[in-house]
Amino acid sequence: MIDKQTFIQTILEIDNSLRFLAANGYRGFACNGHSLEKLEKWGKKRESFPETLASIHADLGDCQRCKLARERNHIVFGDGNPKAKLVFIGEGPGFEEDRKGQPFVGAAGQLLTRIIDAIKLSRDLVYICNIIKCRPPGNRNPEPDEIKTCFPFLERQISTIQPDYIIALGTFAAQTLLGTATPISRLRGRFHDYKGIKVVPTYHPAYLLRNPDKKRDVWEDMKMLMKEYHYED
Ligand code: URA
Repeated sequence: MIDKQTFIQTILEIDNSLRFLAANGYRGFACNGHSLEKLEKWGKKRESFPETLASIHADLGDCQRCKLARERNHIVFGDGNPKAKLVFIGEGPGFEEDRKGQPFVGAAGQLLTRIIDAIKLSRDLVYICNIIKCRPPGNRNPEPDEIKTCFPFLERQISTIQPDYIIALGTFAAQTLLGTATPISRLRGRFHDYKGIKVVPTYHPAYLLRNPDKKRDVWEDMKMLMKEYHYED
């Protein structure tokens, strides 16, 4: 007898596997040698089927894995260049993002666009996403179980994009990526590491809208990035 949680987890894993195969062009299971060989390899050596953002998106599907599914209008998967050298990670969708299914399209998003312009890039050169993909009701903070459920998808997006740099916008992005409880005010101002990718923690644009005096710190963080960033490649 298996417990309910293990049963649900097993079903979700089977679902993930089938979605993954479907996203990679498989339309059925002919039990010929070729198919069986592929399936055998898939189980043992997942990297022989490299993921794409599209296959991760397909795997996410109409996600019902956490309670945020109940009230969201749109899943906000992420947007931008799939080969971006720079990825911006925010907290989670707000009202406008939930309405449109796109990250950072409200007031904080407009400020983020200005920050991206100021570092001589554009939204279509970078990739923009969030720690969680569904809006928490009333824009409350994401809860630990929601982050735990959603973060693996972001990790897969990051390892597919393979950026050189990540800008972690605000407390939740910085603390989740870096696995720390250190406040953003003490994390910012220097590079950190996430799986070999340089992370620049900085204040969230929504916080800047409420505390414009902190824009100077964000500009210092952006200058630190610009000194290293290779614009030509
Ligand atoms: N705030 C975030 O953290 N992410 C968005 O996409 C919008 C606002």
